[in-house]
Amino acid sequence: MPRKLFVTTALPYANAAFHVGHMMEYIQADIWVRYQRMRGNEVHFVCADDAHGAPIMIAAEKAGKTPQEFVAEIAAGRQQYLDGFHIGFDNWHSTDGPENHELAQDIYRALRKQGLIAERTIAQFFDPVKNMFLPDRYIKGECPRCGAKDQYGDSCEVCGAVYAPTELKNPYSALSGATPVMKSSAHHFFELSSQRCLDYLKEWTHAPGRLQPEVLNKIREWFATDEHGHGGLADWDISRDAPYFGIRIPDTDDKYFYVWLDAPVGYLASLKNYFGKKNLDFDAFMADPQVEQIHFIGKDITYFHTLFWPAMLHFSGRKTPNHVFVHGFITVSGEKMSKSRGTGISPLKYLELGMNAEWLRYYIAAKLNAKVEDVDFNPDDFVARVNSDLVGKYINIASRAAGFLSKRFDGRLSGDVGVEGNVVLEHLRAARPNLEELYEEREFGKAVREVMLLADRVNEYVDQHKPWDLAKQEGQEAALHDVCTVCIEAFRLLTLYLVLPALSRQVEAFLRIEPMTFDDASRPLGAHTIGQYQHLMQRVDPKLLDALFEPPAAAKVSPGGEDIAPEIAIGDFAKVDLRIAKIVDAETVEGSDKLLRLTLDIGEGPDPQGRPRLRNVFSGIRSAYQPADLIGKFTVMVANLAPRKMKFGISEGMVLAASHADEKAEPGLYVLEPWPGATPGMRVR
Ligand code: 2FM
Ligand code: ZN
Repeated sequence: MPRKLFVTTALPYANAAFHVGHMMEYIQADIWVRYQRMRGNEVHFVCADDAHGAPIMIAAEKAGKTPQEFVAEIAAGRQQYLDGFHIGFDNWHSTDGPENHELAQDIYRALRKQGLIAERTIAQFFDPVKNMFLPDRYIKGECPRCGAKDQYGDSCEVCGAVYAPTELKNPYSALSGATPVMKSSAHHFFELSSQRCLDYLKEWTHAPGRLQPEVLNKIREWFATDEHGHGGLADWDISRDAPYFGIRIPDTDDKYFYVWLDAPVGYLASLKNYFGKKNLDFDAFMADPQVEQIHFIGKDITYFHTLFWPAMLHFSGRKTPNHVFVHGFITVSGEKMSKSRGTGISPLKYLELGMNAEWLRYYIAAKLNAKVEDVDFNPDDFVARVNSDLVGKYINIASRAAGFLSKRFDGRLSGDVGVEGNVVLEHLRAARPNLEELYEEREFGKAVREVMLLADRVNEYVDQHKPWDLAKQEGQEAALHDVCTVCIEAFRLLTLYLVLPALSRQVEAFLRIEPMTFDDASRPLGAHTIGQYQHLMQRVDPKLLDALFEPPAAAKVSPGGEDIAPEIAIGDFAKVDLRIAKIVDAETVEGSDKLLRLTLDIGEGPDPQGRPRLRNVFSGIRSAYQPADLIGKFTVMVANLAPRKMKFGISEGMVLAASHADEKAEPGLYVLEPWPGATPGMRVR
């Protein structure tokens, strides 16, 4: 019996183009889906834009567009990526579509009927100029702990403190600059902390094989309460007050669902929209207990998908997910990526440079496993794996044999390849169950390694039989025919096992065969006639990777990503006392992943004990420097800055470092170093 699968990837926010992180997720899910289809299973694979929420509403306003226009423009740019990387979604929809409005409201009504929706009045910051409640990320102010200015409403980037927006000193709205006021409003909560929900979620999350072990461990932490019964799951605030771009909460006239309530409902909405176009019965499909519902997501949105979402579905009387498959992030040469701006690799630029999408699909497959581990894109590793494995080992097998077949045998394969040839092919066929299991389990890296070992085996066979020698020898026609036939048959099996979509289509055209399924592994081609060999894949020119990482030539940005500050008088500058400092010691700070503790000598006279006075400075440069690299170096410090009390001690000044305005998007932090000759204590003017 073929399985019936409903598969999704996370719905991307409709405020930016795709970055390579999205492509990695789509490629992972697409490989799994293709594999399932090649097993003869019925798969419906959908996605959509996640259209709602305050950030999109605000971005649209800034762009002078309605939110609908704004998200439509983003949506219009999606297809080129999906086509370019051969992502086979059956449908792409939007969470602002009519299906989603209806489904989200139905689910809400069902939850309310179940007695799981509570109304509570809460006080929140309100922007009196914009006339709207402010989400935490739009409130800024001074850190309640260290006093650092311009910190976000949830945590301080300088001292690492975590707090509520109401604790900020001198808070202001990041939208209007106005001082926010506290205002009360009734909110709707989904009672996740109710015993019913807890009991259900414990059962759902612990079902054998449902979730990856490390995901389940994380969930156990979320469930855990301390000895006072604190902690554990909290009720979930699912409403937002107007103005908001979202779906209206039934029986209210100014309240909307928080975007994260309607976003996963978008999975159902996209499927429903697709079934509508195909004249299929959505309700019957979703009511069919045979149907398996599977979501591929990134690790940052696990809570929403493994707690909120199954609870919403279950208590509204719907099918719940069979699996949520969680993956890690993609890093580029070990660097993390910024969620909004992505990494140094632009998927579109990759395509524009004419780079083969299958290279990236192959490379990502080779690096993926079933764990929640980050995947690193390393340019050298990419070139090596594509050139020596994919092209050097696999493509090579076809190119070694195809010429002889067409020149000497009119493209006809020999019906029987003899004992030795059969041993090689049997070995390849016998690998099928193991490979199927690896694909099923999302152990793509292992599958690819296995396929390359099989390719090695075939290449050894070719090296032993040397078709290029056989071709020159009298009376070796049959032997040559067999060796070349083994190569082509092996190449067909390896192609099948690699699950590379565009390449498979090319190979099928070359071999003149129907689209392959896994069952074809045990059906030899026999005395079949194949087509003319056309070169199937180039090696990667490493120069392409340099071009991929090059910054766009004429990017119009302000220097270093920020505008030049307003003019000052020379006297203003003179107030800042900059001194050459020697870093006499540097160490990491326990409990902070941002700071280093520096001990600086700026040539200040002996302290009351007769020791040279040294400055203690906490500097947010840990991401860029190892303590050992700094000790003994000279730098520049602000020596007359008022001492600042921080979580880890008192900071007596600041060292100067250069960075881009958005340190996360443009990583790189450079401590200033004077030219040789400067000595500690010299003033910089
Ligand atoms: O984190 C994100 O990018 C969200 N837009 C994912 C939503 S997934 C689903 F719930 F829609
Ligand atoms: Zn702070």
